[in-house]
This record gives sequence, structure tokens and C-alpha cells, in this order.
Amino acid sequence: MMLSRPRRNRRNAAVRGLVQETHLTPAHLVLPLFLTAEPGVQRSEIASLPGHARLSLDAMLAEIEESMALGIRSFVVFPAVPDTLKDKVATYSYDPANFYLRAARAIKQRFPECWLISDVAMDPYNIDGHDGLVGQGRILNDETLPILGRMGVAQAEAGFDMLGPSDMMDGRVEYLREALDDAGFTETGILSYTAKYASAFYGPFRAALDSAPRTDADIPADKKTYQMDPANAREAIREAALDLAEGADMLMVKPALNYLDIIYRLKEVSDVPIAAYHVSGECAMLLAACRNGWLDYERAMPETLTSIRRAGADVILTYLAKDFARWYAARQ
Ligand code: PBG
Repeated sequence: MMLSRPRRNRRNAAVRGLVQETHLTPAHLVLPLFLTAEPGVQRSEIASLPGHARLSLDAMLAEIEESMALGIRSFVVFPAVPDTLKDKVATYSYDPANFYLRAARAIKQRFPECWLISDVAMDPYNIDGHDGLVGQGRILNDETLPILGRMGVAQAEAGFDMLGPSDMMDGRVEYLREALDDAGFTETGILSYTAKYASAFYGPFRAALDSAPRTDADIPADKKTYQMDPANAREAIREAALDLAEGADMLMVKPALNYLDIIYRLKEVSDVPIAAYHVSGECAMLLAACRNGWLDYERAMPETLTSIRRAGADVILTYLAKDFARWYAARQ
């Protein structure tokens, strides 16, 4: 005799539907997009992230329209800034003529119902390739904050619904919250990159933006003095407590897959939603294996995204958002 037989609840699709614990829909996904202003370029493919490209504003508007039709309503946009517009203090990040800010205006004008998230960090605009200001061979924390503040307010003015500080400077969430409120942007949210690790999985992203740290003797070669050590978990809880106290509206874990335990832990201590960034390298790994015929994309892709949600992510940023939405629609 066997009293307990878990297989009884798996006998057919109907009962499996009854007992399914985790649900993921396109409404939970954010699609990251790369913006270019290179003259004459509509689409410039990113070799290490097949199927993804830097897009002109027109191409991005079309991409957003197509995504919205699939049920994806949230987007995070990153600018590919030409070197000629970069300097040590990221001046272009709050220049009123900035193509990124103009694009945000155009996107929100055309799609007022979408949720548009920005990137707050110096690296797209910084000739040194770091998220903060480089001085005396170091990344200067407190001197970076006013730059992030100007950048953030300019983004709110341009119409972004939510700022995404990805820089990992200490105190930046509070600094941004106060800067936004002082400027009257009390409704603009903050999605904090709370636990962002110094990860090897950002490669395709840095290639897309040409934003890797400059290789120079006087410049730190990596981001380890501000991004977290992949070996640490309790430190993520400390970062979460700070971001909650500083007024973050959502907390993010990044990357997602190698950090599912961090997602789970932050979910337990946070009363705001948890986001997870399924980063470029993680997507590239899956795409590579599937393109080689080693894995079945139609099964591996939804399983991957569902595992991130099962770990506790309310929101998932993923380059695979459109593929998931198509897969989801085909099953309805
Ligand atoms: C930098 C930033 C990075 C990503 C988002 N913002 C890379 C980095 O820290 O160098 C990576 C996202 C991805 O790999 O998809 N502010």
C-alpha cells in the first residue's frame, strides 16, 4: 500500500492545469531595446545576441508596436552613444538634444499606454567606460551622484515612466528620489538594480553599446569596486534594505539564472515587487545551444523564464520577451 502518490495530480493536462503553481504571461515581461542614432542605420545586428539589433528610432517604434500587439507593454531602452559624444563626466546624458531623450518623448507620444524604463548610469556616455566618474584611478561615488541626478531628471522630463539606476553607486536611489521630487516628478518610479553582480554574462550588451571599461593603466579594468561579488548573498539583503529605505519602487536582481537564490531571498525580505534581469549573456547561451540544435527552443525558452518567475521574480527583463509572447499566444 502507498497512501501518497504525487503522480495522481499529473495524470492529464486538465489536472496539471489545476495544480500549476507558477504562471507567466507577457504582462510580466520587459523587453530591453538598444537605440542608435547612426545616420542611415535602421538595424545594426548584434552578433553575440542573434536576432537582436541596435535600432533607429523609427525601427524601435515599429518594434514596440509589434511587441504591444503581442501583449508586451513594458520596455527598457539603452542608448548606443558614439565615442564623439562621450566625455569623462557624461555631459551628453542630460543634453536636451540627446537622441535618447528625444526618442523617449517620441515613444511616449506614440504609445502613451506603455511603461517606459530608462537606464541611469554613466557607462553609455563615459569615455572611460565605467558607470561612475573615474578620478585618481578610482570610481568616485559621491561625485557621481549629482551626474546621475541630472541624468535622471532629464529622463523624467523626457517622459520615462520609471528610472532604472544600473550603476551600483551607494546612495543613488535616495539621491535620485530627492532630485525627482524636487523637480516635481513625484510620479516617476525607480526600479533599482539592487543586487547587480560583477558578472561575465554582460558581454553581448557591452558589445552592443561598445561600453566596456577602457583598457588603460590608470583606469580600473573591471567593475568589481561597485558591482557585487558573485560569491555573496547576504550583501544582497543589505543592498535591498538600503534601497527600500531609500524609496525604490522595485528591486532588481541581475543576472537572473545564476542568481535564482538571490531572487528568492530578496522576495522574502521585500515588500516591493522583485524584478530579475535575464541578461544578454544568459539569452545568448540559450540561443546558441538552440541554434546548434542541441536544445529545443520552444521548450527550453519557456522553462527558463518560468524558473525565474518561480524563484520569486514578479517582473522579468528578457531579450526573449517577444519569443515568449508568441509561444504563449500559440497555446491560448
Ligand atoms: C551598465 C549595464 C550593463 C547591463 C545593463 N546596464 C552592463 C554592465 O554593467 O557593464 C547589462 C545587461 C545585459 O547584459 O543584458 N550600466
